[in-house]
Amino acid sequence: MSTYNYTIIEDPQGNKFKITSFMTQEVIDSIIKKFIVRNDDVFITTYPRSGTTWMQQIVYLITHQGIESDKHLEIVIPYLERASALDGIKKFDQMAERRYFKTHLPYTFNLYQKNPNAKFIYIARNPKDCAVSLYYFMVNNYKIAYDGKWDDFFNLFIMGEVIYGDWFNHVLNWWSKSRETDNILFLKYEDMQNNLGEIIKKVGSFINIQVTQELLDKVISNSSFTNMSNNSNTNLSWAAWRSEATTKPLRKGMSGDWKNYFTLEQNSIFDEIYNKKMTGTGLNFDFE
Ligand code: A3P
Repeated sequence: MSTYNYTIIEDPQGNKFKITSFMTQEVIDSIIKKFIVRNDDVFITTYPRSGTTWMQQIVYLITHQGIESDKHLEIVIPYLERASALDGIKKFDQMAERRYFKTHLPYTFNLYQKNPNAKFIYIARNPKDCAVSLYYFMVNNYKIAYDGKWDDFFNLFIMGEVIYGDWFNHVLNWWSKSRETDNILFLKYEDMQNNLGEIIKKVGSFINIQVTQELLDKVISNSSFTNMSNNSNTNLSWAAWRSEATTKPLRKGMSGDWKNYFTLEQNSIFDEIYNKKMTGTGLNFDFE
């Protein structure tokens, strides 16, 4: 039986989730009970391994004339659940300027409900590539240190026993809310790959920042996989990464890699679950 390190946290309805072991229920409670969401806050919200870092870089570039940060992305666009573990949420209350956060919190943690005027950029990625990417993440992150092989991980993933729980619940809850409000911009990783320019313009207009052609060119260039892979502020094998890890957080940056991992049997098991859960939702993914 494969294992990994985790903490169990609960949403306000009592649903339980396993997350990275440096986070605690106390921290999550302070987010649920004390964290004040402002009207102009922007949250980059994802299920892990869906293009969060990519969107952090895009949002940073859009808001900084296309110039890259000289600090790590997690400092300039803090990870809500993690940064609060380090400093408490007080630090966020003291921020005078417009705030941009990254979060993986499922919809049921009520961030949107706290202030529906805030903006949420939700990115979803096809679940097969997401699973493979998450497998590498959970193996290489030494706080998590997943010790199993892909075949075991596949089973954990379909049971929703990985960090942040079930992919379908995460994506579908945010998806269905996004259809009722203009303040959740629902995007797909695969569309970022196929038409990044359009996505950048959409994001700019969503957060009310004009994206000129000159800015667009800079954002496209500075958010490329090659550029971000070679930048230690966007692809740092930082403290939480196993030193012997052979893959970095920015691993392959492509779609369709799942075909190198899913066996035919796993693929048919997955397709059956996918069809059952996604039919009638109006949401579908490109797996190529
Ligand atoms: P892979 O493991 O498939 O390579 P997150 O930031 O949510 O953890 O997502 C990580 C995934 O997004 C990784 O996928 C990573 O390579 C990919 N990614 C990050 N920046 C990217 C970029 N500029 N272009 C394409 N993919 C990118």
